[in-house]
Amino acid sequence: MTVQDLLDTPTATSIFTDMHTAYRFTSEPVGDEQLAAIYDLAKFTPTALNSQPLRITFVRTPAGKERLLPLLSEMNRAKSASAPVVAILAADTDFHEHLPVIAPQSEGARERFAANDEHRAAMARNNAWLQAGGFILAVRAAGLDAGPMGGIDTAAIDREFFAGTSLHAFMVVNIGHVAEDGNFPRNPRLGFDEAATLA
Ligand SMILES: Cc1cc2nc3c(=O)[nH]c(=O)nc-3n(C[C@H](O)[C@H](O)[C@H](O)COP(=O)(O)O)c2cc1C
Repeated sequence: MTVQDLLDTPTATSIFTDMHTAYRFTSEPVGDEQLAAIYDLAKFTPTALNSQPLRITFVRTPAGKERLLPLLSEMNRAKSASAPVVAILAADTDFHEHLPVIAPQSEGARERFAANDEHRAAMARNNAWLQAGGFILAVRAAGLDAGPMGGIDTAAIDREFFAGTSLHAFMVVNIGHVAEDGNFPRNPRLGFDEAATLA
């Protein structure tokens, strides 16, 4: 299979080239079963030691939106208000508690991470960010549009949604069906020669 064949498949075309960041959504609802389908795709994103530190809170009720919207930067509120679902992505610094099951080959890993808060926090953050990329593409693969946003008050979201837990919010992703004119025009991407090196 050539790269062109791959780019011509409906999946690669729709996920990587046709679909792009959505800023305004239609009122078409998104069901909880669609959210479960998104997760069931996104969970296969590879992570170091299969650590899977990403935790997702799908906010899709008016009461939930009322709690969340004031904690977004002002320029981002209308975007999330129009989305049927806003996913809060958080990194769980206690991911290591799962290691005996999700990384059984790595004996003693839970204890090693438990003894090193700094390394555990970095591992949680780096790998949750990695999973966030997979999550955005999983939203698209599930036939929905995604609007990732980092302009949020992470500390305030932690206080409001994750008080007393080991979860730390780092971005939100608006989810739904993009409205007409709900995208901005694409900006240019760096070409292969600018971003890649053959060594
Ligand atoms: C981590 C991250 C943070 C972002 N933060 C914001 C944001 O706070 N507000 C916003 O309007 N767009 C935000 N965006 C959207 C990006 O600007 C957009 O995805 C990028 O320019 C690519 O656009 P395209 O998919 O239309 O090509 C963010 C995207 C990512 C991945």
